[in-house]
Amino acid sequence: MAIRNIRLEKDEILKKKSREVEVIDEKIQILIDDMIETMYKFNGVGLSAVQVGILKRIAVIDIDDGTGVKILINPKIIKTKGEQEVEEGCLSFPNQYAKVIRPKEVTVEALDRDGKKITIKGKDLLAQAICHELDHLDGITFIDLMIPGTLEYVEPKKD
Ligand code: NI
Repeated sequence: MAIRNIRLEKDEILKKKSREVEVIDEKIQILIDDMIETMYKFNGVGLSAVQVGILKRIAVIDIDDGTGVKILINPKIIKTKGEQEVEEGCLSFPNQYAKVIRPKEVTVEALDRDGKKITIKGKDLLAQAICHELDHLDGITFIDLMIPGTLEYVEPKKD
């Protein structure tokens, strides 16, 4: 496994639409492992393949609720319910936070890393993380969606 470079805000790749994964081969498995390691290394709750420069529809999510990492290949949101106003950040936009409106609950269908069809129902933070990562796959970031005037820059804490 390896830590991959995270593409940052000025990188045009973040605006591109990712393509469906057609074959889940060894290369995809390595990519998924690297994405998970990279997400944990930078304390993210999610990461999409485009953020490490690969335009494939893959996202990994771990909201630290004890249920472990979720791997979503070719994910599609099939249902949403309600809405929530939440603060959001992104590993591609370090130290920046803004408020966005997200669904309160979402149901997503995807393939897992074995190519098995899975359905995940998420609410609150998990719903937010799923929507955030799926947006990345369509070239959309939270900066595109933020409620105007809510963007804040927060300096990282010094160790
Ligand atoms: Ni992000």
